[in-house]
Amino acid sequence: MSEFPQAVREAWHMVALSSDVRRGQARKITLMDTPIALFRNGEGLGALVDRCPHRNYPLSEGSVRDGTLECPYHGWRFERDGTCRDVPGCSLDNVDISRLSAKALRVCERHGAIFVTFGDAAPAAPPLPPDFGNPDLDHFWWQQGTWQGRAFDAIENVMDPFHTGHLHHGFIRRRDKRHPVELVVESHGNSIAMTIHQSAPDHGIMSRALERDRTCSVSHYYPPTTVQARWEGETKLTLCVTAIFTPATDGTFTPFARFSTPKGFAPSWLKQGAIRLFLNPVVAQDRRALEKQHRVMQHFGQPRFVSGPGDILEDRLHRLWKGETIASGEDPPVAARL
Ligand code: FES
Ligand SMILES: [Fe+2]
Repeated sequence: MSEFPQAVREAWHMVALSSDVRRGQARKITLMDTPIALFRNGEGLGALVDRCPHRNYPLSEGSVRDGTLECPYHGWRFERDGTCRDVPGCSLDNVDISRLSAKALRVCERHGAIFVTFGDAAPAAPPLPPDFGNPDLDHFWWQQGTWQGRAFDAIENVMDPFHTGHLHHGFIRRRDKRHPVELVVESHGNSIAMTIHQSAPDHGIMSRALERDRTCSVSHYYPPTTVQARWEGETKLTLCVTAIFTPATDGTFTPFARFSTPKGFAPSWLKQGAIRLFLNPVVAQDRRALEKQHRVMQHFGQPRFVSGPGDILEDRLHRLWKGETIASGEDPPVAARL
């Protein structure tokens, strides 16, 4: 059994894109070490723990028939709420069918994303960050398969500006041409944001191409698994990226990113192409770094981190991840070179 904090276990988690599970299809996903069979019938989505209650065959390998998920082994059929509807060759007339149910999980679909929760006390729908469904913006989803590493370390990576000039040298910032910046951290009790104020744009090619009129960028962590980065120009938003890091197992996670840009400045497909082109190498660098970091932590049995002067969020990310609240307020600005 994996060791995720209770707050993480009981939250809503994005597990797939809507387009990954078409009507009449079933698909297996893994959330915090639990395999889940997602399927879609004419009424909507079902999420069943991926274990047939009969002889424990994986339900995700079944087919959707007459709106139910049919187990490939003996053909028992299950509704979206887990109710057993059919045991082929037998009558269910005098059978207590509640004993035959598959375990159903709460599932919810918003803006092209599928969310699942194990938590009975989770809110009716997943809380979403600002602009997630804003119709005035162009949005597109980007998914990257399953990565090696811990979801929490990926969150810390995205919230950490100090690796961008070094690991992503040339793409986002440059290690040989650092800019003076002012970092402002704002704690909101159950989330935290870091704003980077700088007077000149970054020297990396990606920053030059995509966010020329940027005046500040904000990274906001919404626990447990969402980070939203916003690049603001003189008057308006230029780019907003919402990254969601879903823990698949203790040592793997599934990242999803939603890109939102103002309508009108260029056609959506062109923006998508440009963003993918520039971001691909950056994402690959992060992916490799998280994998290597994870291998070292596994080798030594556990993480053992020393925080330096750039780690200005201190333990607050980790405390929020665990479901704690943090004292609200703004830290004094920190001068740094990025
Ligand atoms: S194992 Fe699923 S129907 Fe028998
Ligand atoms: Fe990075």
